[in-house]
Amino acid sequence: MPRKKIALIGGGQVGGNIALLAAQKELGDIVIIDIPEAESFVKGKALDISQLLPHDGFDCKITGSSDFKAIKNSDVVVITAGFPRQPGMNREDLLNKNLSIMTNVANEVKTHAPDAFVIVVSNPLDAMVYSFYKVSGFKKNKVVGMAGALDSARFRSFIATETNLSSQDVICMVLGGHGDTMVPVSRLASVGGVPLTALLDKEKINEIEERTRFGGGEIVKLLGKGSAFYAPAQSSVEMIESFIRDKKRVIPCASLCEGEFGIDGYFIGVPTVIGCNGVEKILTFELNSAEKNALDNTLTEVKKTVQETGL
Ligand code: LAC
Repeated sequence: MPRKKIALIGGGQVGGNIALLAAQKELGDIVIIDIPEAESFVKGKALDISQLLPHDGFDCKITGSSDFKAIKNSDVVVITAGFPRQPGMNREDLLNKNLSIMTNVANEVKTHAPDAFVIVVSNPLDAMVYSFYKVSGFKKNKVVGMAGALDSARFRSFIATETNLSSQDVICMVLGGHGDTMVPVSRLASVGGVPLTALLDKEKINEIEERTRFGGGEIVKLLGKGSAFYAPAQSSVEMIESFIRDKKRVIPCASLCEGEFGIDGYFIGVPTVIGCNGVEKILTFELNSAEKNALDNTLTEVKKTVQETGL
C-alpha cells in the first residue's frame, strides 16, 4: 500500500507541530505549504523534522513549498493558514482577516486535491469550516473542523488535575461552537467509568467548565503573543490518524449538521465518527433541558459569525 499523503496549508506553529507529531506517528508523507515569503522557512522546518526521524526509524518524506501543485493527490489536507489570535482579540475579530485567506485556499484545494479529506483548524473555526465547505463545494463527509477535540482535551486535562487521577481514564466531551459559549457536558463525563458528579462537587465542576470555555484565551494571555499550538496540533493529529487508519474514533468535531440535535445547515461541535470515509456519522443522544439551552445559545453565536461571512 503506498504511503498516505498529508498536506498542511500553513506552516506556522500549529502546522509545524502537526508535521512533527504526524511524522512521529508515521502517518504518511507530509507537504507543508505557505506563502512565497515563507517558502524558505517551511522548507527549513520540513528538513529539520526529516532529520529527527532516523532516531525513531520512521520513514516519511517531509517537504515545504509555496506552490499548491505540491498538494496533488493528498489524502488529507489540514488548513491552519490565517492569523492567530492576539491578546484582547476574540476569535470572531479574526473573521474578516481570515475569510479571504480561506476563500483562496478552498479554491486551490478544490483544484489540486479534490478528493482529499479536509480538516479546518483556522479561526474563527465554525465560520472558517463553513466557508471552506461553501467555496469548495466538497461533500459534507469530506469537510470537518477541529475544535471539539481540543476543547475536550482541555476539559479532560482539567478534570485529571482537579481529581488527581489519570487523564487517560477521563472521558468527556465538549459540544457546540469553538468560542466562549461552548458546552462542556459534565453530566456525561467520567473517570474510569465513575461519574464526574460523584468525584467533584458542583462548584468545582462549574469552575472546570468555565476554565474549559476560556481555555484558549487563558493561553493567549499567558503567551503574550499568538495562541496555543501544541494541543491544537495533537488534536488535529488524532483526527488525521482516525481517518488514515480507519479507526472510527468518536471525536467531538465541527461537522455539518442536517437535523442532528435539531441543528440544520451549520457546522458545530458534535460527537463525530471519523474513519476512512471522513465524517462517517454524527452520534446523537438526548440532551437535558439545561444542555439544550446551552446548545441553542452556542448555535446563536455560531450563526452570527457564519452570517457575517456573507456565504
Ligand atoms: C485555541 C485556538 C487554537 O483554542 O482556537 O487555542
